[in-house]
Amino acid sequence: MSAPSKNTSSLHPNLVVGPSKAYSTIFTEMRKADNSPIVFASYARRAMRLLAEDAIAELPTKQTQIITPCGPTAGTELAVDKICAISIIRAGDSLLQAVLECLPEAHVGKILIQRNEASEEKEPILYYSKMPPNVENMHILLCDPMLATGGSALCAIQTLREEYGIKAENIIFANMICCPEGLKAMADAHPEIKIVTACIDEKLNEEKYIVPGLGDYGDRFFNTV
Ligand code: PRP
Ligand code: URA
Repeated sequence: MSAPSKNTSSLHPNLVVGPSKAYSTIFTEMRKADNSPIVFASYARRAMRLLAEDAIAELPTKQTQIITPCGPTAGTELAVDKICAISIIRAGDSLLQAVLECLPEAHVGKILIQRNEASEEKEPILYYSKMPPNVENMHILLCDPMLATGGSALCAIQTLREEYGIKAENIIFANMICCPEGLKAMADAHPEIKIVTACIDEKLNEEKYIVPGLGDYGDRFFNTV
């Protein structure tokens, strides 16, 4: 369960699996069905902070020289002008919050997409989107904790490209838990988009929920169970 695949490139050519050892105990708590939404959200916030840092670490960087209190040394800093963190509402808002704690200067975009849970295919429905001006010139951190069929992420990416002129190669998709089905959908449509994830789960069930997964992330995080 959820151990990173040894050969992740067979699932997606541009996949980064977060290396933090801390994920294993945090995910164990998040996965427990009998944990309350309050406990779930508390562990989710810890995981989101790690994921946010892992995703930010994939932005372009440059070498720099700095002075520490004890003398000069080499360092690394982000080499990007403007960053836009975009949340796929609702669940994406929890990851957006963690990104903004790390990068308070980032611009924010929102896109409201919901799976049609009444249908067999669980296709995404797009309701709303709002981006900052000149978003097409920014580096994008697209935030959604769950990648199941891939429908919602692909719908968001299509909107970002077609409505806002964002280039796929400027998008990093930050995602907490994914599965082979969602990764394949992303690889088929957008192999150039980097995906930063914490965990590759086994599969989708008949209801197209991730297994073992953690159920409906949004309902548990926002206490609408
Ligand atoms: C969840 C999740 C993703 C989507 C993943 O959102 O946050 O956006 O499902 O599933 P997919 O890959 O099959 O599209 P949901 O539609 O449940 O809305 P929510 O964020 O309000 O919970
Ligand atoms: N959305 C979720 O919140 N969880 C899943 O497993 C699939 C879609």
